[in-house]
Amino acid sequence: MKLLVINGPNLNLLGIREPDIYGNRSYSDLVDYIETLCAKEGIEIEIFQSNHEGAIVDKIQDALNKFDGIVINPAAYTHTSIAIPDAIHAVRIPAVEVHLSDINSREPFRRHSYTSAACLKTIAGFGFDGYRIAILHLKEHLNNSDKNL
Ligand code: DQA
Repeated sequence: MKLLVINGPNLNLLGIREPDIYGNRSYSDLVDYIETLCAKEGIEIEIFQSNHEGAIVDKIQDALNKFDGIVINPAAYTHTSIAIPDAIHAVRIPAVEVHLSDINSREPFRRHSYTSAACLKTIAGFGFDGYRIAILHLKEHLNNSDKNL
């Protein structure tokens, strides 16, 4: 099983960026956390971060026939981008949306996610653990869809 994790703009500044909201751990801590989990679960993983919407769309398109599932934290593009969910729909790769913070209990403009319509599930407010929940959800989903073939 091969999963792609995509992180959007400003997530590379974790640890520096608004630590009261996003915590003190850095982006490389997040990468270590995901890689350690995936090694333990026997999941092949690639982790991609970009501050550019088009680069994220390109990465999703490029995932076709290469990845079984996508975990995506589109960051601010969650609330603005139609191109990102369009790309997820286009490649038809099962995806789970993650947010470190609870987007529903912050500013009203964060309550709407364009991405969620293209995802199996949205997990928000659990910090790094949200990525674990998303990866395990996708693993279970993919194992169950194999059984139904
Ligand atoms: C975020 C929430 C978004 O509203 C925000 O723009 C981000 C990070 C999160 O992980 O909590 O950049 O996606």
